[in-house]
Amino acid sequence: MRPNDEPEAMLELDSVRVEYGAVKAVQSVSLDVREGEVVALLGPNGAGKTSLISAIMGVVPITSGTVRFLGRDVTLASPEEKVRMGIGISPEGRRIFANLTVAENLRLGASSQPDKAIRERNQHRYLEMFPILKERFHQKAGTLSGGEQQQLAISRCLMAGPKIVMLDEPSLGLAPVIVERIFDLIAELKAARLTILLVEQNANEALAVADRAYLMHSGRLRFEGEASRLRESEDLMSHYMGLAEAQ
Ligand SMILES: Nc1ncnc2c1ncn2[C@@H]1O[C@H](COP(=O)(O)OP(=O)(O)OP(=O)(O)O)[C@@H](O)[C@H]1O
Ligand SMILES: [Mg+2]
Repeated sequence: MRPNDEPEAMLELDSVRVEYGAVKAVQSVSLDVREGEVVALLGPNGAGKTSLISAIMGVVPITSGTVRFLGRDVTLASPEEKVRMGIGISPEGRRIFANLTVAENLRLGASSQPDKAIRERNQHRYLEMFPILKERFHQKAGTLSGGEQQQLAISRCLMAGPKIVMLDEPSLGLAPVIVERIFDLIAELKAARLTILLVEQNANEALAVADRAYLMHSGRLRFEGEASRLRESEDLMSHYMGLAEAQ
């Protein structure tokens, strides 16, 4: 604990930049996620959200800045090392293994979890939560519908029992009943004290479940603070998210 009794950050970013050639996708972002917190990362298309969490995971290179996880500098660690340390990601656009079955995808997701009982318990839990995965258990994942693949991607990243999970637009393109289930799942994971960094376009739902929020625009953070404060700030939301027009 710090002197002011604030819990220490589980994940801590200091001045992180991500550039793709001339494109400055992330420009000096510093943020932290504390243990047991749900933190929403919001922003319009092209804000840099996926670039930022891809950089945290190590799947895109960090141009400068540092990433610390559980007090350790992991800026240069590989994605595989980060999975082993307990960082999970459900990437944007699903990225399941299309030629493997649902069962094989889930097994791969759990491969970094050494405890068989935990693997089995997790599998049971996610198959109960997303019954379609149970029905399609031995079917090639590539034959699932988009929404079904999304449910598989989320389940897969949770199978290893990560310490923190980064969800990149988990509700994108899903039917309302499944969106509701995804947010119920997030609330359940939160109640179980899983630490979550949640990227979402569905701002109202995300802010309802989040403790704190960051708002990103053009690669920079424009707001950080209590999720409820952002939710109530119509000015910020309409200025950066265009929500006023959408409602
Ligand atoms: N591999 C890449 N090469 C070049 N530019 C890229 C690459 N990936 C992303 N970008 C650019 O970086 C910027 C940030 O993109 P990013 O995907 O991080 O945004 P985002 O906030 O996740 O948006 P969305 O809500 O649409 O998913 C965009 O302008 C995008 O065009
Ligand atoms: Mg994105």
